[in-house]
Amino acid sequence: MSKRKAPQESLNQGITDFLMELANYERNVSRAIHKYNAYRKAASAISRYPSRIQSGAEAKKLDGVGAKIAEKIDEFLSTGKLRKLEKIRQDDTSASINFLTRVTGIGKNEHKLTHHQRIGLKYFEDFEKRIPREEMLQMQEIVLKEVKNLDPDYIATVCGSFRRGAESSGDMDVLLTHPTFTSESSKQSKLLHKVVEQLEKVHFVTDVLSKGDTKFMGVCQLPNKEDGASYPHRRIDIRLIPKDQYYCGVLYFTGSDLFNKNMRAHALEMGFTINEYTIRPLGVTGVAGEPLPVECEEDIFDYIQWKYREPKDRSE
Ligand code: TTP
Ligand code: MG
Repeated sequence: MSKRKAPQESLNQGITDFLMELANYERNVSRAIHKYNAYRKAASAISRYPSRIQSGAEAKKLDGVGAKIAEKIDEFLSTGKLRKLEKIRQDDTSASINFLTRVTGIGKNEHKLTHHQRIGLKYFEDFEKRIPREEMLQMQEIVLKEVKNLDPDYIATVCGSFRRGAESSGDMDVLLTHPTFTSESSKQSKLLHKVVEQLEKVHFVTDVLSKGDTKFMGVCQLPNKEDGASYPHRRIDIRLIPKDQYYCGVLYFTGSDLFNKNMRAHALEMGFTINEYTIRPLGVTGVAGEPLPVECEEDIFDYIQWKYREPKDRSE
């Protein structure tokens, strides 16, 4: 048998445990380092206290235990739990962050998670799921309806794998334009913000990852099913593109990746360069000229003398 005295720390273990859980929450989730230190200081003082604490008032005599912590100790001693902690544990974000904090290496910098990363954690499981075409169709209906209600002159296209007819998609890629917005006209950031605000208003867009003047990245969700069950949260990107560049954008964001590569390679052979904004002729010296006018996707195929391919035939 060891001669060392048995550790006394178990005397007030319940209290020190909940204080440390609160401390970690303040550090990892709220990023409130002062509160984190306050809880830790209290936990440390209480862990060194040689007898079982009977009340908040008794604990308050210790250095580092203030009125608020004393109150929590009273609540814990009389009910065996803490409402604040119960609420925190129910919150998805703190649950995910606390989970990752347990993983070696991540724990050290968890308070440096960006907003984007926090949302990524919050919906980690949802974002891993593919979106069935049936749901993409419902999502498309909502987006197009809200856009047209705002202003019938908007043009919006759901691109990505959905436009290629895929049975399921990883995310929703929406392109948006308006006849009044061209690469020559002044910036019209309101055009995108109005759409995003409307989609938030009808509770389709639930979170924002980033919101620029021409690119919105966020999270959306279909309204609950008839039986009350909810749909997973989905990633949605909306890009505002000048009208004269719209169809090069639609072509690019419809993909596939491989199809885009092949089409660009063919364009080069024909003396053109295509990117997500424009198609431009290449001069003899290989310098790109002015963008060519484009009114639809077919125009781009015509310039490079390629037979038009429907989106469903653009897998490669
Ligand atoms: P993604 O949404 O990444 O691809 P996807 O919609 O085809 O597939 P998923 O169902 O998984 O969402 O990008 C949309 C399109 O943008 C893609 O089909 C082609 C184009 N694209 C490129 O050409 N190169 C790239 O590196 C990326 C990321 C996209
Ligand atoms: Mg996609």
